Amino acid sequence: MTHPLEELRAAALAEVAAAPDEEALDAARVRYLGRNGSISAWGERMKTLAKEERPIVGKLLNQARTAVATALEEAGEKLRATLETRALAEIDISLPGTPNDIGALHPLTQVLDRAIGIFRRMGFALAVGPDIEDEWHCFDALNTAPDHPARNEQDTFFLPDGRLLRTHTSTVQIRAMESAPPPLRVIAPGAAFRRDETDATHSAQFHQIEGLYVDQAVSVADLKGTIEYFLRELFGADTAVRFRPHYFPFTEPSFEIDVKSKALKGGEKWIEVCGCGMVHPAVFEEVNRARKDAAYDPEKWTGFAFGLGMDRLAMILFDIPDIRFFAQNDLRFLRQFA
Ligand code: DAH
Repeated sequence: MTHPLEELRAAALAEVAAAPDEEALDAARVRYLGRNGSISAWGERMKTLAKEERPIVGKLLNQARTAVATALEEAGEKLRATLETRALAEIDISLPGTPNDIGALHPLTQVLDRAIGIFRRMGFALAVGPDIEDEWHCFDALNTAPDHPARNEQDTFFLPDGRLLRTHTSTVQIRAMESAPPPLRVIAPGAAFRRDETDATHSAQFHQIEGLYVDQAVSVADLKGTIEYFLRELFGADTAVRFRPHYFPFTEPSFEIDVKSKALKGGEKWIEVCGCGMVHPAVFEEVNRARKDAAYDPEKWTGFAFGLGMDRLAMILFDIPDIRFFAQNDLRFLRQFA
């Protein structure tokens, strides 16, 4: 005679074996082994049994529980394996993968990062100033005459309130000196704006790296050494650097700098990359007036300043023929620098 527990066990195992999915397995688990399950019920029933019957039924109960639990587990695993195999069969591993596009730095940013790295090694700190400026920071403090053509509305974007978009990053020289006494060694990269007709080499927005070095007994030799070192680090050791006398209101003497290098495309041509000079005493005096002190005493302090055309540097370095590429956001262009 079979015990009812053995019948329950057989029924449970049959049900598990026939279960088509995990839901059916769960239902079987609840029905037989759950808190109110029919096999579990025998646990309670044991208390009502005669003493000599208990070990026999106890053993049957344990065997039933273990057998059903094991069957449930194995059936579950088999079901999941089948599902996985079926899912994998639907994947065609011979299909090409989905490309995972990784971003890259804009060529101007790449040049900027390198430039900052080179100046950092020479002890220059980063300084910043606003794109929207007042006329004093952009012109007056830089010793620019009231009738200088750069102030003209034809060259400068003026806002209705009289402020303007800075036409050069030299404004940051003034801001740096306003906020800290000498000695000073800063570079200020950023955008500048001019009402230029747009063409391959002119853009209404372009970028410069301004530099300012103020200390005692600074000379043109320091200026030359600094700029030459920078340009050779950026363009290569065999880069020729030429200083041409020039005029800027905020420096005296002033120079424009050209580079030429066999290593660069465009080869044997001199290309202008920088304006520079020794800080004009009138600039120090105007800064002192704004600071209301004599921190920048032109008898005691001297300095040099420079403004590098960043777009120009990048165009030379990467052989880019047109400044407009920088702002057009054309992936065919940008991908070449990834
Ligand atoms: N601000 C000048 C320009 O935009 C460049 C320049 C020339 C900057 C001489 C300087 C400098 O700091 O000393 O053309």
